[in-house]
Amino acid sequence: MSAARGLWITIEGGDGSGKTTQAALLEDWLRAQGREPLRTREPGGSEVGVLIRDIVLHHRGDIAPRAEALLYAADRAHHVATVVRPALDRGDVVIQDRYLDSSVAYQGAGRVLDADQVRDLSLWAAEGALPDLTVLLDLDPAAARRRLDSADKPFDRLEAEQEEFHQRVRDAFLGLAAAEPERFLVIDAARDPHAIAAEVRAKVTALLG
Ligand code: TYD
Repeated sequence: MSAARGLWITIEGGDGSGKTTQAALLEDWLRAQGREPLRTREPGGSEVGVLIRDIVLHHRGDIAPRAEALLYAADRAHHVATVVRPALDRGDVVIQDRYLDSSVAYQGAGRVLDADQVRDLSLWAAEGALPDLTVLLDLDPAAARRRLDSADKPFDRLEAEQEEFHQRVRDAFLGLAAAEPERFLVIDAARDPHAIAAEVRAKVTALLG
């Protein structure tokens, strides 16, 4: 499916790339236009998802790569079925922090599972649902790490991975964007957040017609 009536925007990028800031700026702007966007995220955009998020981000010790991929896919299946699809059917704009491209990048390239299998698993989970627009905030992992360090929050399981892992994730995101240029807007995330927000707004304005 593409959005039946609403507009579905996902924001992707590595840890520390500024997704949350951009999601908030986009939400504020849409509200100022009189819209009521739904802001959500994966993992953890539903009640069941909050439980899954706790496992994938905070479980002490290893989780087998395929189990990790299935947990993200389970979160996605429930989130799309119970939160995203109903919102799009109502005609809402959905702003979503991470979606299946994160699985392909993190579980595929990061954990070295087969990228096509990971993508197919997510597509099965979400009954083929793809966003209208995916904003990729692209940032060098070393710069992202400096941002995370200065945020002074404990790292979750994925953030704690080595720089090499995050480099593979970055490359995978860029590969996905190159393969689907119609869906992706790639932005240099080292730029000023307000300049980035303006670029996102211009694209969203065009899509909203
Ligand atoms: P994120 O929303 O960036 O967490 P934070 O609250 O720290 O900003 O995402 C949590 C982590 O989950 C992030 O490191 C990427 C990872 N992730 C995957 O590995 N696969 C996925 O499919 C998704 C959605 C996220």
